[in-house]
Amino acid sequence: MIKIIEKLENNIDIIQMKNEELEVVVSNFGCTIIKVLMKDKNDKIEDVVLGYKTIKEYQEYDAYLGALVGRVANRIGKGTFSLHNETYTLAINNGPNHLHGGIKGFSYQTFDYEIIDEETIVFHYLSKDGEEGYPGNLDFDATYRLVGHTLFVTYTASSDKDTLINITNHSYFNLSGKKENIYQHTLMIKANQYACVDKDGLPTGEIKEVENSPFDFRKEIEIGKQIEKEDIQLTLGNGFDHPFIFNEESNQVTLYHPTSGRKLTVSTTLPQAQIYTANYLDGRIGKYDDVYNARDGICIETQNMPDAIHLEGEPTTILKKGEVYEETTSYTFEVIK
Ligand code: BGC
Repeated sequence: MIKIIEKLENNIDIIQMKNEELEVVVSNFGCTIIKVLMKDKNDKIEDVVLGYKTIKEYQEYDAYLGALVGRVANRIGKGTFSLHNETYTLAINNGPNHLHGGIKGFSYQTFDYEIIDEETIVFHYLSKDGEEGYPGNLDFDATYRLVGHTLFVTYTASSDKDTLINITNHSYFNLSGKKENIYQHTLMIKANQYACVDKDGLPTGEIKEVENSPFDFRKEIEIGKQIEKEDIQLTLGNGFDHPFIFNEESNQVTLYHPTSGRKLTVSTTLPQAQIYTANYLDGRIGKYDDVYNARDGICIETQNMPDAIHLEGEPTTILKKGEVYEETTSYTFEVIK
């Protein structure tokens, strides 16, 4: 069942998607996932994502809680790139680099939307040629579909000029219902390799094997056991804030919280995910008056390689005129009793 539960100013709505298993509250502002309510092993319902109390806070603050991020997630080195001998200049909004689509990227835009059926919402946004410095009129859809325990998110886009695209969702998961930080959550990532970053979080181009490092999550292991280890990359990232490169094509990431029995499985058509342990949350107040600090959530940002335009011979983030970008990530929330 899908229901509009609040209509706010400027065509911003709060929409509830609900079935027997899950309740997901979203907004057409930034296609933001505001709440994910699920049971624990004793049938207690709690919210397993971080978020703010009001839309105003989503509009004013950074951190991208629950937001859809675009046109290009993560960083573009020095905020500039060339395509077909033309140089494009983007906002520098994170140290010396461009981050998450710029000052007013997709996370800060209001989308049109249509409720298609009992399970499906399609959000739509036309990003104009030159918006935030990117070329091409980009026609973009995000489809959110709630079926049983799973939220399926599909992104499609096409452009009238060659351009860049790398869409992700920036939800901060905390399966304890924010009773504790994420240290007791176990994480499993089907990735043999990860990408190194510099002190500003920009991938350097160096790819490392996870073996014999705190980045080895090939077998499930508590995050708290890995994150405090001595490692230059953990120091540079201030925790985990790195692209993990998948070696499987489905169910690549599993997050589990043994005390509550809650388990999240992320499956994606994308080749990697930025794993970010909320390193820069700084005591801000969220929903339910909770205080959000570093390590209070984990983002599993499925995407192509950040800064691919500078790092890859054939950048995976180029969308050619007339071609269709289509990627799906699903989030399955289950309880292990
Ligand atoms: C980035 C972090 C950044 C955060 C902003 C993450 O995707 O990798 O470095 O601070 O988003 O909320």
